[in-house]
Amino acid sequence: MRRSIQNLIGPFLATLPIRHWPRILSRLTGVLCPRASVPNDQVTSSGGANAKILFDILDQTANLDGDVAECGVWRGRTLIAMGIYLRQSRSQKTIWGFDSFEGFHDGLAHTFRDGSMEVVNEKTAIFRLTNVRVVRGYFPESFRAAAQRKFSFVHVDCDLYESYRDCLEFFFPRMVRNGVILFDEYGDPEWPGANRAVDEFCRQAKVSLQSIVKDNTRKFFMTAPGDTGEAVL
Ligand SMILES: C[S@@+](CC[C@H](N)C(=O)[O-])C[C@H]1O[C@@H](n2cnc3c(N)ncnc32)[C@H](O)[C@@H]1O
Repeated sequence: MRRSIQNLIGPFLATLPIRHWPRILSRLTGVLCPRASVPNDQVTSSGGANAKILFDILDQTANLDGDVAECGVWRGRTLIAMGIYLRQSRSQKTIWGFDSFEGFHDGLAHTFRDGSMEVVNEKTAIFRLTNVRVVRGYFPESFRAAAQRKFSFVHVDCDLYESYRDCLEFFFPRMVRNGVILFDEYGDPEWPGANRAVDEFCRQAKVSLQSIVKDNTRKFFMTAPGDTGEAVL
């Protein structure tokens, strides 16, 4: 039922600015939109992604060279939202999505095993997105597909210490100057590994974090100095 509605309204929605989608469309399509965010009572870094934050950083990095990436796609809720926003902003950037689509390595109870590349590919087709590239597999092996690329924005949404560490080691040297790496779980007590990996990396790379708050959701990010001298591109 839901799929037939999506097929019917997808081409229309692809042209309707996603910042103005009514909240119900998020439920119907499985794509996050800004109006779907329910403001928190007080500022917190817990909880899922906020589309306003993602879109604002896409705007902030729009004039930089380089692709966009998301590490941790699950069912494409945020990846497809960013793909639609980039397309509607007439951006030429490619957006990469990396996920095992089998949950985590370590068999944790809370594993996102219902991630699905097929669902993501369906959404890509429904919204006629030609700017989305999805790579299935565990980090860091799957990142090899993008080894020659540079990035202006990376959304890290993969919960675990090792996953965060792998993302930072791969993407940081591939960021263009002023490119942004945004951390979905930093500051969220449910995922302490995110803080550990980011803090370790910041100390070693001598970078500091900044934060952005929308709807009382605070997300942390780093801005790349560029020219780190470590990338072999
Ligand atoms: C929080 S979910 C992503 C949510 C998605 N961005 C959204 O907003 O709907 C985390 C995802 O990270 C993926 N993941 C975590 N560590 C990974 C790794 N080392 N390799 C591949 N995928 C990984 C999991 O499979 C899971 O789908």
